[in-house]
Amino acid sequence: MQFDLLLAPWQAVLTQRLADQWQASPGEPTLAPAAGQQLLDTMSELHMQTGGKRLRGLLPAALVAAGDGPVDAALSLGAAIEWVHNGTLVHDDVQDRDELRRGTPTLWARFGVAQAINAGDALLVTPLAALLRDPAVPNEHRVALTLLVADALLATIAGQTADLLLHGHGLPSLEHVGAVHVGKTAPLFEACLAGAAILLELPPATQATIQPMAKALGLAFQIRDDLLDALGLKGRGQAGADVREGKPTWPMLLAADSWTGEQRDRLGERLHQAAQGEPLDDAEVGQIINDIKAHGGIDAASGDLHTQLQAVREVAQDVWPPQCALVLVALCDRLAKLDG
Ligand code: IPE
Ligand code: IPE
Ligand code: MG
Ligand code: MG
Ligand code: MG
Repeated sequence: MQFDLLLAPWQAVLTQRLADQWQASPGEPTLAPAAGQQLLDTMSELHMQTGGKRLRGLLPAALVAAGDGPVDAALSLGAAIEWVHNGTLVHDDVQDRDELRRGTPTLWARFGVAQAINAGDALLVTPLAALLRDPAVPNEHRVALTLLVADALLATIAGQTADLLLHGHGLPSLEHVGAVHVGKTAPLFEACLAGAAILLELPPATQATIQPMAKALGLAFQIRDDLLDALGLKGRGQAGADVREGKPTWPMLLAADSWTGEQRDRLGERLHQAAQGEPLDDAEVGQIINDIKAHGGIDAASGDLHTQLQAVREVAQDVWPPQCALVLVALCDRLAKLDG
């Protein structure tokens, strides 16, 4: 079954749920001048109009529908996680100094860093308040689901902090980058899976698979993200925005394994300079991307992507209810395609 087809029934209703959650907070009139809320609304709308795959928004609903559980509550959970994801992206673009996301100018590029920080703040806090107030979420699950999202957000922030620490230190080990990749990406997927498991009242043996699955999914997701960037499929113009920013990536580290010590030192030094605000120019970025390709970095990273996805498929098929496993396998098949 194709993942996009599985998700299709929930697309429109998720869009509505996202809008409802934004409007539901703040619950009471605030003392701030209306112009502040208006600008936040504008920034939020502009950012959300840029789309994205909405995977985190749709995954809980797809799983809970497959398991015959309360889909309405799963949509609210998914909407909250999708908002939070987008809040982290608004801040991430400030941190990474990226002027384009999803082929569109980023909020900080349009409104300045200061207002983009406000927009990100609102995108992160609104869904937590909205989820606590959401009538679609049964009372007995309200606090547990909200804590799940809040804890996942805090873990993601710690992952982002580790990601920024990584910049400017030359070439780290693959293991180190893997841990950072998992740290910044796995928690929100863990919240999707754990929330669905709560709503479906899945047994402890299934719940025990959630963390390892989320880790594999998070790593797969970031390896894929690094691959898309290296291949110029990330909606950021020229390939290699990561290299330009001085970020060590999965394909780069795999390729660099076969470089001489001198080549590795030179690249490490250049990444360090880039992270200090001396970005690489187009020619340098193009050369590094060519070297990554020539030394098998793309193929090797694609192999690792498939290994992580296969691990998720196997656990899903062994332990999850069969209909839910179909959703997870379809998700893995979707992520196996490098198409933006
Ligand atoms: C991008 O996530 C940032 C990462 C955590 C890798 P997605 O690839 O899910 O972004 P959108 O929401 O579909 O644009
Ligand atoms: C972003 O990672 C992860 C989070 C915001 C948690 P990246 O910096 O790799 O994401 P992109 O490449 O900008 O989408
Ligand atoms: Mg980024
Ligand atoms: Mg980043
Ligand atoms: Mg990236």
